[in-house]
Amino acid sequence: MIGEDKLDYTGFIERVYARLGLDLRYYKRRQMERRILSLMRRRGFQAYEDYYEAIMHDSALRQEFIDRVTINVSEFFRNGSRWNVLAEQVFLPLKDRERIKIWSSACSTGEEPYSLAMMLDRLGLLDKSVIEASDIDRPALDKARRGVYSEEALKKVADSYRSTYFLRTADGYQILPRLQAKVHFFWFDLLRSPYPDRAYDLILNRNVVIYFTDEGKDHLYRGLSRALKPGGYLFVGSTEQIFTPERYGLYLVAPFLYRKKM
Ligand SMILES: C[S@@+](CC[C@H](N)C(=O)[O-])C[C@H]1O[C@@H](n2cnc3c(N)ncnc32)[C@H](O)[C@@H]1O
Repeated sequence: MIGEDKLDYTGFIERVYARLGLDLRYYKRRQMERRILSLMRRRGFQAYEDYYEAIMHDSALRQEFIDRVTINVSEFFRNGSRWNVLAEQVFLPLKDRERIKIWSSACSTGEEPYSLAMMLDRLGLLDKSVIEASDIDRPALDKARRGVYSEEALKKVADSYRSTYFLRTADGYQILPRLQAKVHFFWFDLLRSPYPDRAYDLILNRNVVIYFTDEGKDHLYRGLSRALKPGGYLFVGSTEQIFTPERYGLYLVAPFLYRKKM
């Protein structure tokens, strides 16, 4: 039969998983399929089969594909009012702790962990904080480690922060080495890597779960809950409420902010 052995979406993502270890089965199909098809067509491919062969043989096309499907748009202090809640409800109560351990678990190009570093510095808590930041996208992590941003990327950063925490260089705005040194970046796949046990006082997981299926979300929240210390906080994106937080041993303390039971 004509077309019988043509690769379809499901076959394509299975092959991608087998060869690249990138598991797109837990990402919502409609969004993901549209995203992949539009990229394929922009590059002149009509069939999944041809596109699959091309990305396996051409590293630039492959990297473009990974960047596109992992979606790494970010901002400093994204959803600003939520960050005030973080300062008041999480950082101030933790201020007497000897050490505060934080994980920005889908940090993209670094805006989120550096926002944390700036805020903690302002609150006088940076020295006792450990900030870890991870992502699945290696080029995004490379950019995060460099810590250089365009003027456009800084447009929502208050002038007082810009002048205190960035150095103007020929390439743009460089985050101050003192803050950069406080953020430890590493690669981590939220759907496949093993989660640590009771490691963090606060985890940020923002604007990634929107792309996951219910099964993917379930896996993620189990892992994040395990990684929190009892009484630790989980800060999620502003469209990402967890519908049954008690399933994961969490409860709501403020919109988009959860706490793990003691
Ligand atoms: C839209 S960005 C969000 C960045 C930041 N948290 C924020 O809210 O601005 C989503 C990030 O999730 C990452 N991501 C997607 N799937 C992932 C996975 N399975 N494991 C880890 N990171 C993932 C992407 O690479 C991307 O950098």
